[in-house]
Amino acid sequence: MGYRVAVVGATGNVGREMLDILAERAFPADEVVAVASRRSQGVECSYGEKTLKVKALEHCDFSDIDICLMSAGSAVSKEWSPRIAAQGAVVIDNSSCWRLDPDVPLVVPEVNADAVAGFRKKNIIANPNCSTAQLVVALKPLHDKARIKRVVVATYQSVSGAGKEAMDELFGQTRAIYVTDPIEPKKFPKRIAFNVIPQCDAFMEDGFTREEWKMVAETKKILDPKIKLVATCVRVPVFISHSEAVNIEFEQPISAEEAREVLRNAPGCVVIDRRETGGYVTPFEAAGEDATYISRVREDPTIDNGLVLWVVSDNLRKGAALNAVQIAECLINRKLIEAKRKAA
Ligand SMILES: NC(=O)c1ccc[n+]([C@@H]2O[C@H](COP(=O)([O-])OP(=O)(O)OC[C@H]3O[C@@H](n4cnc5c(N)ncnc54)[C@H](OP(=O)(O)O)[C@@H]3O)[C@@H](O)[C@H]2O)c1
Repeated sequence: MGYRVAVVGATGNVGREMLDILAERAFPADEVVAVASRRSQGVECSYGEKTLKVKALEHCDFSDIDICLMSAGSAVSKEWSPRIAAQGAVVIDNSSCWRLDPDVPLVVPEVNADAVAGFRKKNIIANPNCSTAQLVVALKPLHDKARIKRVVVATYQSVSGAGKEAMDELFGQTRAIYVTDPIEPKKFPKRIAFNVIPQCDAFMEDGFTREEWKMVAETKKILDPKIKLVATCVRVPVFISHSEAVNIEFEQPISAEEAREVLRNAPGCVVIDRRETGGYVTPFEAAGEDATYISRVREDPTIDNGLVLWVVSDNLRKGAALNAVQIAECLINRKLIEAKRKAA
């Protein structure tokens, strides 16, 4: 098949997961190149049973690369994605840098796979924010069935969504509490161990945070600009997987049983909703899994045509790395790209 794939940010939370997922899914790659900052040059990363030596971004030649999976943050993407794209590699970016650019498709393959075809304008495709990805996977089949008017969502976001240093901070603070060491918040604005913080990303003028705004704007771009959405994004002391309490108002009637049936047959969704103690999915159980889990589906008695659900997914997989690899698979399966070099 002969595809050459670069993973930029290979030493990070998302990048490591990308390498694992490429190997797990037997992605048709002849060669995978691990790339990170100069700090990590020569560091070893696992790719299936192989070990890759990390190259520094500045020293990388992308002229032979077909697909570049990018997860090195917005500033790096802003500078490097156009340069890599100009060398003929399709960049699939995980940062927020290109998501709302009208010339860049924002894609969740279960929801709007056809949008990938628009990648040629900039040779860049964007992945949504992790909280948006799992939300739209669950909303899409319900929207097709009963037309969503409005969504109210509260998130319970794991620390891995803020990068590897954020995971270290939760671990370090938890340990410090047990040995009565002082706690000094760095990545998070307040102590995260044994606490919850109603702030993900920076504040905007209207009082919402950027994370909350991203969920609104990205849901509109991916699913339907007519959907009204309001979010409260909260960081919780969980290592992996984001959870969301989602309240949905529809144009047409839809019962909880109909919703469960629709979701059971929807791509990427798994319904676990036994309506008994423990009969739902928690973030711990979703970690390392590909599915978006839906539990606690109920009719909302306070409005006409309303449902309430609980949605959980691994933010590093469906929220980032898995979604990026699925986009790359879409490009290949739809024959939208060809390998630059044929296999030997
Ligand atoms: N975590 C999530 O759930 C999630 C979900 C969706 C999107 N994203 C996005 O994905 C991106 C990465 O997130 P992450 O959680 O993986 O962060 P992370 O764990 O902090 O890793 C960041 C990665 O970027 C690399 N990097 C930093 N500066 C660089 C530079 N100047 N040149 C080349 N590489 C550089 C780092 O390399 P070194 O190790 O050498 O520093 C590391 O590999 C971010 O844009 C984030 O917003 C994350």
